[in-house]
Amino acid sequence: VLDLLIKNIGVLATPKGSSAKCGAEQNAVDILQNSYIGVEEGLISCVGAGSVVPDARKVIDAQGLLVTPGLVDAHTHAVFGGWRQHEMELKLSGMGYLDILAAGGGILSTVRSTREASEDELFEKTSSLLKQMLAHGTTACEIKSGYGLSLDDEIKQLKVINRLKKNSKQDIAATFMGAHAIPGEFKNNREGYIRLLTNEVMPKAAKLAEFADVFCETGVFSPEETKRILNSAREYGLKLKLHADEIDPIGGAGLAAELGAISAEHLIQASDDGIMAMAQQQVIAVLLPATSLYLDKPFARARYMIEQGVAVAISTDFNPGSSPNFNLQLPMSLACIKYKLTPAEALTAVTLNAAAAINRANLLGGAEVGKQADIVIWNCPDLNFLFYRYGNNQVHTVIKKGEIV
Ligand code: NIG
Ligand code: FE
Repeated sequence: VLDLLIKNIGVLATPKGSSAKCGAEQNAVDILQNSYIGVEEGLISCVGAGSVVPDARKVIDAQGLLVTPGLVDAHTHAVFGGWRQHEMELKLSGMGYLDILAAGGGILSTVRSTREASEDELFEKTSSLLKQMLAHGTTACEIKSGYGLSLDDEIKQLKVINRLKKNSKQDIAATFMGAHAIPGEFKNNREGYIRLLTNEVMPKAAKLAEFADVFCETGVFSPEETKRILNSAREYGLKLKLHADEIDPIGGAGLAAELGAISAEHLIQASDDGIMAMAQQQVIAVLLPATSLYLDKPFARARYMIEQGVAVAISTDFNPGSSPNFNLQLPMSLACIKYKLTPAEALTAVTLNAAAAINRANLLGGAEVGKQADIVIWNCPDLNFLFYRYGNNQVHTVIKKGEIV
C-alpha cells in the first residue's frame, strides 16, 4: 500500500533523467495523459496511466489538471535586509544599475541593511519569503550570500541559509558570494578585499556552502580577479558559479568554461565563442529573464545557446535590486515570450536543468520513479496553459517529499 496516491492527473508533464538536457533533448518532455503518481517514503515509487490505480493510505484527486515536478529556482539572493524601493525614482530618472552601485547604492545599500539585521531577523524574514515561494510552486532553491561583504556578515548570512535548510520545507543549496561587490571600506584597496576573501573568509565559508559565485562585471570583479577568487574557492572544495556577461561582454562565459564551473548565470552579453566553450565544457546556462525585464536590458540569446548545445536553466534571480520577484512563473512565461523557448524547453529549464545547476539532478527536477516526490498540481488543463497565462499564481496544490504543503 502506497503512502500517497495522486490520481486523476489530466496531463503529467516531466523531463526524465538525472542530468541536464541540452540541444533538442531539452524539448523532449514526457507527456502522460490520464495518469497517476504513487509515493512511498517521500519518493516517487510508481507512475502509471489508466483508471486502475494502486491502493494508498492517502489519495489526492488532481481533478484532471496539469501536474509537473516541483519548480527549482537555481539562482536567488533571498537573504537580505531591507528593500530598495527608494531606487525606483533614480532608475526612472535614467541612472544605470552600475552607476547606482558606483555611487554607493544598489548592492551596497542592501549590504548596509543586511549588516544592521540580526541573524534571527534575517532568518524570520527569509523563512516567510520561502513559504510564499513554496506557495508559488518552488520546492527547491539556491540562495547566495553576498550582502555581508565582511567576515562576520558573510558568515552570518551563510548561517541563516543553513538554518533555513533545516527549518524550511524546500531543499536549499548555499552559495558563498562574498565577491558580490567591493565593500565601501575597501573602496581604495581592492587587493585587500580580495585577500580577505581568499585568506580569511573562504576557509570558513567553505564549511557552510556548496558553491562559490563571483559577480564578474565592469567595475565589480575583473575576469582576472574572478579567476583568483574562484581558484581559491575550488581549493576549499566549493563548486563554481559565475555571474557572467550580465551587463558588459567581458568574457565571463568563456571563463566559466575555462574554470570548469557548474554554471554561468545571466549571460545577456555572452559572446559566440563563450557560448561555444560553455557547450564544450557542459557548463549550464542559468538565464534570468525577469532581470532583463526589470533592468530594461536585452534578453540573453537562449535559442542560440540551445542550438549550440548548451543546457539552459531559468531562474528568478530574486533579490531586492535587479529582480524583486520570487515567482518563478513570471520568468517561465518570459522564457517563451522573449527567449522563444517552447513550453517543454522552458519546463525542463525550471525543473531538471535547474536541479542540475545546483548539483541535485539525481533527486530533484523530475516526476519519475526514484526521484523525490516534489510535485505541483496546476490550475491548468495542459502544459501550454501554464506558460500562456501570466501574472497570477497558477498553483493548485504543492506536494513536497510526498506531503501536501
Ligand atoms: O544577479 N548582478 C549582481 N547581483 C544581483 C543583483 C543584486 C542586487 O542588485 O542587489 C543580480 O542581478
Ligand atoms: Fe544574481
